[in-house]
Amino acid sequence: MKDVVYFLILIYQTVTILCVEYAEEGNLIRNGPAFQSTTWDGHWAYRGNDYPIHIGYVGQKYYCTHTSHDARYGWWMADLKKSYNINRICLLNREVFPERLINFNITVKKNLYDQHENICKATQTTSVKIANTVNDYECFNCLSNSIGSFLKINQVNNAILTLCDVKVYGEFVEERDYEVINSSNFKSFHKDFIITDLINTECLTAFQQISESDLFIRINFQNQVDVLGVFILASEKKDVPATFQNIYISISDSPQTIFNPKANFLVKDYNSSFNGNHATHTFFTNSSITGSYLLINSYDKTGLRNVYMLDICSLTIYGHSNRSAKENIKHKVEAITKGSNDIKAILTDDIYYFQGITNYVSLLPSEMIKIEFSSVSVKLACITVLNMTSTSVINIELSKSAIIVNTTTIEVENTILISHTLCTEYLNTVATSIVLDSNEIERLTEVDIISNRK
Ligand SMILES: *[C@@H]1O[C@H](CO)[C@@H](O)[C@H](O)[C@H]1NC(C)=O
Ligand SMILES: *[C@@H]1O[C@H](CO)[C@@H](O)[C@H](O)[C@H]1NC(C)=O
Ligand SMILES: *[C@@H]1O[C@H](CO)[C@@H](O)[C@H](O)[C@H]1NC(C)=O
Ligand SMILES: *[C@@H]1O[C@H](CO)[C@@H](O)[C@H](O)[C@H]1NC(C)=O
Ligand SMILES: *[C@@H]1O[C@H](CO)[C@@H](O)[C@H](O)[C@H]1NC(C)=O
Ligand SMILES: *[C@@H]1O[C@H](CO)[C@@H](O)[C@H](O)[C@H]1NC(C)=O
Ligand SMILES: *[C@@H]1O[C@H](CO)[C@@H](O)[C@H](O)[C@H]1NC(C)=O
Repeated sequence: MKDVVYFLILIYQTVTILCVEYAEEGNLIRNGPAFQSTTWDGHWAYRGNDYPIHIGYVGQKYYCTHTSHDARYGWWMADLKKSYNINRICLLNREVFPERLINFNITVKKNLYDQHENICKATQTTSVKIANTVNDYECFNCLSNSIGSFLKINQVNNAILTLCDVKVYGEFVEERDYEVINSSNFKSFHKDFIITDLINTECLTAFQQISESDLFIRINFQNQVDVLGVFILASEKKDVPATFQNIYISISDSPQTIFNPKANFLVKDYNSSFNGNHATHTFFTNSSITGSYLLINSYDKTGLRNVYMLDICSLTIYGHSNRSAKENIKHKVEAITKGSNDIKAILTDDIYYFQGITNYVSLLPSEMIKIEFSSVSVKLACITVLNMTSTSVINIELSKSAIIVNTTTIEVENTILISHTLCTEYLNTVATSIVLDSNEIERLTEVDIISNRK
């Protein structure tokens, strides 16, 4: 009897220890944001901390993470959203190829822009045990002072990294003052490109453009955002050397899409060096940039490139929404006329991009467009045009109650082959109308008059 009781106690303790060792309770990363260096054949980063947990294929579907065969030194990262002192990590390896979870280190960082990383686990030189069941976790205790909000598992060697599940435990240290910005209100410049495509972690849809001219992606946050960083997940590898080269990312209050060297950049002239599939590009800054638009330009100052390509399928923006700040708002236009033709519907329909659409206005050198609105302090006047040559000049005359208060011109520096937004900035000039004329506007698709919110 006594022996049976001891035996039961022993079983109870063993089961308790096993359960506690990799318990779901206290796991800090289930279903949180996850990223990895590259992705092989649909084995996305989020499979390292999602449900259900598997150790390989179920039917045709693979439930673990797997970096690309072509780009080694794989890494996987989880965002814990707050700072924790991490004390324990449990890893679930695959049922096959356990050697893809060997020679890695585990580090934590408070912020991605920090130079310093805290070491949780120095290089692990034996492979994490092969998984025969979904309970075959191997756990590691972290070195002391493993404080941070981003946890990274890094292949130290030129090798693939695979993981089936990761659990992270630790004690709360402090809140973080930024997070992934909710993108449901974002608007894209391109009418045939819906912004939710870009947060599709399966990369089933992608934004892909190729041109012989500069390319861009513009996102309107429809709010002011203090941006601290961006993760960009590239599409499937293409054998085009121009993919993701000469990349500039800027944040501003202007919808202008033409490359502006004076903009506030998150990154300048970045060239991707990845060869692997679905590379993740990480751009973070230690001093946030505030604005309502994010612009990604692929711009070559030498003009020597003959092909440009932007090919991305996921965009995760970190920062904080700045609702208390004065926002720029698109001012309500009351009338837009060319001669006696009412063209307001075409030029204020929020459709910018225009391949394949017919809502545009042409302007002969002898014609003028008049835009009328209620009295407002104008900050920016912007037009979206296609196909302008470097000889194009657009005159813009700002008036208040029929008295001209400012005349300015927009000169097109380089030939524009794709649709672009061009802006002129005012020092908050009070006006009631704008008159546009040009020696050459073949296609005008949108007019934006932007003022400060009172
Ligand atoms: C972890 O591994 C990565 C990749 O080899 C390396 O860059 C980093 O310095 C290593 N960190 C530590 C703390 O060993
Ligand atoms: C994002 O914003 C939308 C609309 O405001 C809201 O419905 C949704 O719940 C938000 N998502 C998250 C994760 O907060
Ligand atoms: C990217 O490549 C261009 C040449 O196309 C070069 O001028 C530029 O310096 C490179 N950028 C960086 C950050 O190395
Ligand atoms: C931000 O980074 C820059 C360059 O890396 C550095 O000079 C500056 O001191 C940093 N500022 C803060 C507040 O950490
Ligand atoms: C909001 O944005 C303004 C700049 O427009 C900046 O000065 C201010 O510090 C920001 N507020 C917060 C809470 O980040
Ligand atoms: C751009 O203009 C040129 C010459 O004016 C013309 O040949 C070409 O078809 C135009 N392209 C588009 C897309 O409108
Ligand atoms: C007219 O506006 C331009 C900017 O578009 C500005 O540089 C210039 O100072 C303004 N002129 C007057 C007289 O206000």
